[in-house]
This record gives sequence, C-alpha cells and structure tokens, in this order.
Amino acid sequence: MITVNDYINDKNLTAPCFLCGDALRVLAYLPDNCIDCVITSPPYYMKRQYLGGGIGLEATYQEYIDNLLAIVKEIYRVMKSTGSFWLNIGDSYKNKQLLNIPYRVAIRMQDEQNWILRNTVVWDKMKGAMTQSKDSLGCEYEPMFHFVKKKKGYYYDSDAVRKKPRSTYVENGAVVSATGVSGVRYRRKIELSTELTEEQRRNACQALDNVLDRIKKGELSDFRMVIKGANQRVTNGDTVNLSGRAKELQEKGFYFLYYNPDGSMISDVWQIIPEDTQGRKLHFAPFPEDLVKTPIVLTCPPEGIVLDPFVGTGTTSYVAAQLKRRSIGIDMAQEYLELAENRCAEYGCLYCRPPEFTLGK
Ligand SMILES: C[S@@+](CC[C@H](N)C(=O)[O-])C[C@H]1O[C@@H](n2cnc3c(N)ncnc32)[C@H](O)[C@@H]1O
Repeated sequence: MITVNDYINDKNLTAPCFLCGDALRVLAYLPDNCIDCVITSPPYYMKRQYLGGGIGLEATYQEYIDNLLAIVKEIYRVMKSTGSFWLNIGDSYKNKQLLNIPYRVAIRMQDEQNWILRNTVVWDKMKGAMTQSKDSLGCEYEPMFHFVKKKKGYYYDSDAVRKKPRSTYVENGAVVSATGVSGVRYRRKIELSTELTEEQRRNACQALDNVLDRIKKGELSDFRMVIKGANQRVTNGDTVNLSGRAKELQEKGFYFLYYNPDGSMISDVWQIIPEDTQGRKLHFAPFPEDLVKTPIVLTCPPEGIVLDPFVGTGTTSYVAAQLKRRSIGIDMAQEYLELAENRCAEYGCLYCRPPEFTLGK
C-alpha cells in the first residue's frame, strides 16, 4: 500500500495519480511545499451541475468566492515557493449584471493571500457560444491568471515557449534581417537625415556595419535602427526625461533595438479553440489540451509535479504525462475520474482512495 505522500516522495512513480473527494478536504492530506505547478479551472458560478456536487451553485457569488478562496489558500500551502498557479475562471451574469467574478477572485488572492499576479492571459476562444442576447455582446474570451509566491526565482523556462525567429538572408549582395530589414535602407536614412552632425553620421554608419556583421555571424536575428531626423517613431516616446532611448537619440543621433536570437516571447493573448470532443456526454467543460501545455512547459520543471484540484476528465494529468511531468488530479465525481483514468491509460494510473488516500481501488 502506498499513500499520496509516498507518491510525492517517490520520483519513480511517474503515472498520474488521482484522488476522489472534495478538494478542500483532500488537499489537507498533502504536505507543505510539495507541488511545482497548479493548473485548474474550477466550476464557474451558477453555470453547471456536476455529478459530484461541489462548489459553483452557492446562493450568492460572495459565498462561492469564499468557498473557492478556502481551496486556493490550501493551494498556496502545498505549492513550492518556486511554483506557479494558473487559474482559468469564467464570468457569470446575475440579474443582467456581469459579476466580474474572475477579477474579484484574483484581487482577493492578491490582497488576502499574498499571491503575486504575473500575467492575466486572455484565452481567445476564436468562436463564442451562440448568444441569445439582443442587448449585450457575445463573450469569446476567458482570463487565465498566472500567480506565483515570490517575486523572483520561480521556475520559468521562457526558452520553452519562444517563437523561433526566421533567419536572415542575403539579397542583391546585402544582408537582410529576419523581418526584411536591410542595411541599405538604414544607410540611406543616415545619409538623408537632416539632423545628424558629420561625426554622428560616421559613427552611425560604423555602428550599422558592426550590427550587420553580427547578423551575418548569426549572433543576432533581427534589429531596428532609429535615426535622428529620419521620420521614425521613437520607442517609449520622444521625451528625454522619460526615455533612456530618447536621450541616446539626442546625444548619439541613433540607437538600436535588438531581437533575442532565440526568438521572441509569446504574448498574453492565446488563441485556442475550445475542446468539444473529450467526454462531452458526461462532462461539459473540459480544458483544451493546448491551454495546459504552455503553462506546463513554461513553469513546471521536467519530472516536477503538476496539481489540478478540479481535474474533471483529466486533461491536466494527460498533458502532464505527455510532457513527462508527474501529476495529482482531484475531483469530487468518481465518474469523471474514471474518464480521466481511461484517457491516461497508456501511462498507467495510480488511484489513491479516501480516507487515508492509500493506493488501490
Ligand atoms: C470546469 S470542470 C474541470 C474540467 C477539467 N479542466 C477538464 O479538463 O475536464 C470543474 C470540475 O470540478 C469538480 N468539482 C466541483 N467542486 C469540487 C470540489 N469541491 N472538489 C473537487 N472537485 C470539485 C467538478 O466535478 C468538475 O469536474
């Protein structure tokens, strides 16, 4: 017999682990600081009746938020200080009033539980549910909050999600950067500038040659050059007091913006079509797999443990297993955990049952 604590401590147990019960009660069995990454989507307020009951159908939204925050407080306790918490939560209307629930939850987490909010990702669903409303717009996005426990030093593998840069090429003998910026155009701008002194003009040409050389050698993939008096928009505004770049422009007559050779960081808008195949008959709201992939590769170290306290059909566990991360999934409904177990069958499954959460059916 093994317990959920044995699972946490034994790195050789790689199969997803499932626990059936109320998240608040089940989380109490987990030790402090043992989880690397939490990704979850709790039931939204007044949207659906799930098979096992649970939160979401409280009489008031305040009660719903209180109940959710009690679970979130436990998440804070079990998550490592290097960990990340990704919370996807949708909004609800009551008496025509959009309740702003995601933001009320996020603000209370910041104010009452010391969570640090690093991003509010907009999940752009690219297609909305059919709206019957004739006096409000259809909603096609949901927020996904990224919270951490400390300002610096949380696990964050930005290289895992960078958009790979296109490479440079040579056209008519001139080096052209990944996005089509050529030295020829900039040299012409330098020559035509009405505001550069002769010395600044010489220095600008020399600096441009150096940058093109670095592009040729593959040290840089792309750049922009801003030249005084060349009718370009100045990044961060023209005011010398406000911007170091504006100051550089005034003193040297030019500055460069360099692109990361490993690619640019992804933005906080994610276009992902909602899931509508997995377990629709029994469960109405599974995660799309892509919504879980980015948080895992970005914020869970290889072989780390991902937790989903409202795991439903097991999307988080399944994607975690694909990406070679261990996982713990909790849900009130036995029926959903069976779907999750079937879905993860190729990785094997560990089922820890109440009351002590020992392994076995
Ligand atoms: C929005 S669904 C999660 C769907 C999941 N992301 C997936 O991909 O299938 C919310 C889940 O929370 C479960 N639930 C509701 N209240 C709970 C509670 N107090 N403790 C544990 N699970 C609960 C429901 O049974 C439901 O499966």
